[in-house]
Amino acid sequence: MDVAAPGERGCVTLMQKLSGQQLPWPVDWAVFFGTVRPLILEIGFGHGQYLVHLAERYPDHHIIGMEVASRCLQAAEGAIERQRSTNVLPIHATAEMALHHLFEPETISQIHINFPDPWFKHKHGHRRLMQRDTLDAMVSRLVTGGKLFLATDIRAYAEMSSQLLASTRGLDNLLPAPWMTAMPERGITTRYEAKALKMGETCHYFAYQRNMVPVTPLPVIKELAMPHIVFKTPLSLETMMAQFEPSEFAEGDTIIRFLNVYRGERALLLEIYVKEPTIEQRAAFLVADRPEPGEFTLKLSALGHPRPTVGIHRAAALLGDWLIGLDPANVVLKRSLLE
Ligand SMILES: C[S@@+](CC[C@H](N)C(=O)[O-])C[C@H]1O[C@@H](n2cnc3c(N)ncnc32)[C@H](O)[C@@H]1O
Repeated sequence: MDVAAPGERGCVTLMQKLSGQQLPWPVDWAVFFGTVRPLILEIGFGHGQYLVHLAERYPDHHIIGMEVASRCLQAAEGAIERQRSTNVLPIHATAEMALHHLFEPETISQIHINFPDPWFKHKHGHRRLMQRDTLDAMVSRLVTGGKLFLATDIRAYAEMSSQLLASTRGLDNLLPAPWMTAMPERGITTRYEAKALKMGETCHYFAYQRNMVPVTPLPVIKELAMPHIVFKTPLSLETMMAQFEPSEFAEGDTIIRFLNVYRGERALLLEIYVKEPTIEQRAAFLVADRPEPGEFTLKLSALGHPRPTVGIHRAAALLGDWLIGLDPANVVLKRSLLE
């Protein structure tokens, strides 16, 4: 895996363009940074001012930021370089993916969320950061005594978050009220905070602490073995390709789409999309011919660096069923799948 670890190379500029999809699951942060230090996570760091501020304020911590917008990553990387911060790492990943796949339980000492996108339309509700599953994942990743800070300028979001936080057994409120409307000890105003204050909006600040109440264990979700099917068929790659139709399968909270098929010299490339609760992947499977006549292997292509998850295995099973169903003479010779 060609990922520049700051601990190994000691150079901020080489820490760039890290993606959660390409990091080990979970990451051994001590090995990654080269030193053992408490971890601070900022989710949705935007242009990165608060991330850099955290790096300065906690020089003996490692600061890790998760952000989904590429343009924000670029801006934050610029801010980190200008500041010459060496204890901060911006990563391209959703918070949901990072919390479940990159961090072991009880490893984070602070989580900061500043002005999350509200996503108030009903159909977008699943994208909201402050929701039960994601909050439970945050709680499980905090060390005992670890802190969770949230700020929002949207009253309805504050009320919704307040209810959610107050009903979380693993957290205690550190404030004398559900939220404060000022928190000068934050030491810096973020971009969205400044916008809100300029428009005369009230900001709502929350501070919670992980207590000793046990919570449902949420082990880190690791990657699985590569899915793999070997089959024999009288059909040619052209005939298989001609029968491909885009389709969608919904299984519980997983959505699998067969998007497209492309023909290579000795293989078909099947483009797919898999949406699971913790990760979305656009990936491709290959149907590649084998030296033995009439034999083919269905396997995950390395294109786009897909990670073999339960959803990817389900997609392999569905593609395998489709391929085998194309002709009564088709036979499965080997099937390495999570069943
Ligand atoms: C309203 S902006 C706030 C930016 C910054 N924290 C501030 O206060 O100025 C919300 C940020 O969260 C990011 N974001 C949204 N959903 C996210 C997710 N699931 N995981 C990580 N970042 C996310 C967005 O790309 C955006 O940069």
